[in-house]
Amino acid sequence: MKILVTGGAGYIGSHTCLALLEAGYEVVVVDNLRNSDAQSLKRVEELSGKSLSFYAFDVRDENRLDALFKEHRFTSIIHFAGLKAVGESVTIPTKYYANNLISTLALCKMMKKHGVRNLIFSSSATVYAQDNAMPLGEDARLGCTNPYGWTKLMCEQILRDLCVAEPSFSVVLLRYFNPIGAHKSGRIGEDPAGIPNNLLPYITQTALGRLKQLSVHGDDYDTVDGTGVRDYIHVVDLANGHLKALEYAQRNRGCEAVNLGTGQGYSVLQILHAFEQVNKVTVPHVIGPRRPGDIATVYADPKKARDLLGWEATLGIEDMCRDAWNWQTQNPKGYRA
Ligand code: NAD
Ligand code: WQD
Repeated sequence: MKILVTGGAGYIGSHTCLALLEAGYEVVVVDNLRNSDAQSLKRVEELSGKSLSFYAFDVRDENRLDALFKEHRFTSIIHFAGLKAVGESVTIPTKYYANNLISTLALCKMMKKHGVRNLIFSSSATVYAQDNAMPLGEDARLGCTNPYGWTKLMCEQILRDLCVAEPSFSVVLLRYFNPIGAHKSGRIGEDPAGIPNNLLPYITQTALGRLKQLSVHGDDYDTVDGTGVRDYIHVVDLANGHLKALEYAQRNRGCEAVNLGTGQGYSVLQILHAFEQVNKVTVPHVIGPRRPGDIATVYADPKKARDLLGWEATLGIEDMCRDAWNWQTQNPKGYRA
């Protein structure tokens, strides 16, 4: 079975390509390398001992996409390609709408034209409104606070409508919580450009001495120790969730939204201390003000993933902290080194 993976050179995409090759799928990647390095795919091939096909172009390029669908008979698509920096989406919203919506629409068109019926979409916990009770079930109220989030919610709606219009189609909208960690080999991992926005890369780069200190964004939330609580999920567990979603999509029709989280929340200080303990390093940090737009606590209800996909997270916070550090120490400057 041949799978088209858009955005496959990126953080979650590269881990999923590895899981796909290991499971015996044929893999074709399209990525414009806007936020990634083709080195990740070379390492996926090296780790799996198998090869994949890589095409460097923008998913919005319908001519190239059409030629690709003629060249390969895809069973299913996993659509990771997208821009994901929340802050940048506020300052350059049109770039986010153009990239994330038009790439998804181009794929919808090709699915219909070439009879490819299954698609797994990278959605996000960010599509949930901020006033829901925890844990977040898939039927919690939806609503966004930034353009990035809206692109995800709009793509969800487009894909839901597509499945109504095309009853033979099957789409799984995977709502990721906070992916962290890396493959245990340390050969592939998260390689953010510039100063990281997310907690874990900020911690690893501070531990390495590339950044001076971590600022903990507020310690006056109504949580276990006052710092923000999130549902961190190991990227290898997340990758395996895509394989389960593929199997589900191939057996079923219609559109389903499914959370991929652990159901367990950890505070910023809990993560920081776990990281220091597991890796026997010190991470200089200060308590800073709250970050605008943050809320106290976010964690998933992972029951639907268990019931519908037969998937649940297996790796814990120590694995996530150890593997993130292993990747960072082996690749202090990421793939560019
Ligand atoms: P990433 O930036 O590492 O990977 C995305 C990949 O898509 C990159 O390799 C980039 O070059 C490529 N890309 C972007 N636009 C493209 C286009 N128009 N054509 C071709 N390639 C394009 O990000 P990631 O963390 O691996 O995230 C993958 C997906 O999951 C994204 O859609 C993201 O929004 C979503 N997501 C990520 C997180 C997270 O915290 N990492 C959480 C929830 C959802
Ligand atoms: C986690 C916690 C911060 C950095 C974001 C996106 C979301 C999704 C996942 C794509 C919070 C605290 C962080 C730092 C800190 N991405 N923190 N100091 O905000 O939960 O989610 O990534 O879909 O859409 O919004 O993740 O890693 O930025 O923050 O104290 O330097 O760490 O306040 O409590 P977040 P994060």
